[in-house]
Amino acid sequence: MIADVGARERIRTSIHRASPIVTPDDETTTSATWWHRAVIYEVYLKSFADSDNDGVGDIKGLIDRLPYIKELGADAMWISPWFVSPMLDGGYDVSDYFDVSPLFGTLADAQELIDASHRLGLRVVLDLVANHCSSEHPWFQSALTSPRGSKERELFYFRDGRGENGLEPPNDWKSIFGGPAWTQTRNADGTPGQWYFNLFDSSQPDLNWKNETVRAYFDDVLRFWFDRGVDGFRLDSVAAIGKDDDYRDMGFAPDDLYRPDKWAPVPFFDAEGVHEVLRRWRRVANVYESEKFLLGEVVVRDIDRLARYLRRDELQSTLSFDLCKVSWDADEFRHMITTLHDASLTGHSWMTWTLSSHDEMRTVSRFEDEGAASAPGDVATTGHRRARAAYLLAMALPGSACIFQGEELGLWEVTDIPDDRRQDPIYFRTAKRQIGRDGCRIPLPWENDGPSLGFSGRAETWLPQPSGWADVSVATQLDDETSTLQLFRSILALRSRIFSDDNWEFSWEPSATGVLALRRGPNFRCVINFTGEPVRIGDDDEVLVASSPLSSDREIGVNCGAWLRTR
Ligand code: NOJ
Repeated sequence: MIADVGARERIRTSIHRASPIVTPDDETTTSATWWHRAVIYEVYLKSFADSDNDGVGDIKGLIDRLPYIKELGADAMWISPWFVSPMLDGGYDVSDYFDVSPLFGTLADAQELIDASHRLGLRVVLDLVANHCSSEHPWFQSALTSPRGSKERELFYFRDGRGENGLEPPNDWKSIFGGPAWTQTRNADGTPGQWYFNLFDSSQPDLNWKNETVRAYFDDVLRFWFDRGVDGFRLDSVAAIGKDDDYRDMGFAPDDLYRPDKWAPVPFFDAEGVHEVLRRWRRVANVYESEKFLLGEVVVRDIDRLARYLRRDELQSTLSFDLCKVSWDADEFRHMITTLHDASLTGHSWMTWTLSSHDEMRTVSRFEDEGAASAPGDVATTGHRRARAAYLLAMALPGSACIFQGEELGLWEVTDIPDDRRQDPIYFRTAKRQIGRDGCRIPLPWENDGPSLGFSGRAETWLPQPSGWADVSVATQLDDETSTLQLFRSILALRSRIFSDDNWEFSWEPSATGVLALRRGPNFRCVINFTGEPVRIGDDDEVLVASSPLSSDREIGVNCGAWLRTR
């Protein structure tokens, strides 16, 4: 079968819309702001570049490599948390929000990074971890030594246990990382004490966002970093801030993990109070002359709930978490993109499209055929071809886009990390039943040789690099016109030239089963071939860029895609 996608009839996405959308003269959507259409590069600091040879990436390492991010074509960076932290969850366990972890550098290094980025025209988005802090945060330490019912304990969720001497958790709630969502404390005399709520690890006690002290403190955190020139925040697990005063059992089984996108409503997630907090943050951000961007990590159970976070006075955008989960299937992609786009417009906003993050399996591995025989580094593998095509599609969508470091190199999930080198709390809290997220967080390969391929001056890095990464290093790929890195550079350069800042429309053209044909404007189309046969393009179509070379002059190969301009 060779499908013909040359037809020109347009289907507006509004056919699928359940709710009214904003009109083009809406004040929020017409004013072009810097994050509209921006490409945001996610820097996972521990694994980006190491300047002081301790095997862990740091701020100075990032400063040295800023030109790489700029030349890739990014407009902004989202940097994983760099605050003081015991690092039990990669920095998502903060013990001081007003300073930088010595592992990463100093406050002066952070300022230098912000300034150097701005000189290059790169915006800086930090990661705000507000649902919880570290158990080493001074607040939590004093809560532990304060009595039941004290104002120190009011900043968290302390409850008495059930059963004899309160030795059972207050209820059956489960953590996202596995195990109970409650941890028992010890009193000063060594007897069992109250329990505290931790949605993630027990080193990450949840903060009580109904408490004005917590709210005012985070206003100051935002201002502290905005005043230093930071351009926005990615808001970590933000829906978890909303909690109801209801401590019923929810019917969890002992081995369950709480999954916000799967479970029915629970009192400890996505409760109404979160929206008041978001409006408050937006008011803090709006005081600044240059626009500050609030980008949510919002994982909720349905799209209507998501749209609520994108209301005019709340977040400007959210990451398209659902797209990190779709399989290689045309209908799934079409449905998910349409739904997310509509949700963002309903909420007066734009989506930030992303296919992966430091929490997800690498795209190349996700799309690989099960049991694939070829080496993961071979760009001819199914996974590589599909990942390249999927990025071509994601980069064609209206809105911002986010690329997790290493996706532009086609890095794959590393699965053979020795047991004693694994770090992710998920691995340990599930008694190793869940492998966790270490496999996508491996230090980047910069050079073809040398200790840790240019990541650090030493060979031993905090997570071990696999063999074979010299072949996919930045240096290797810069020398190869057909590499995934060069493809990303071409796509991003083209994207910034051909799409305007405030055009949020797209449509799906009729196409054969298994083919997606996305149209923007009068003569741009992105065609992705999910079928097992080549797809013929129209005679008047000019290929702007293709994810892999066309299989013949006028055919898009299997697992490939192309951006086309109608002549
Ligand atoms: C989401 C972050 O992306 C993830 O890495 C972290 O473990 C959890 N939130 C808890 O902060």
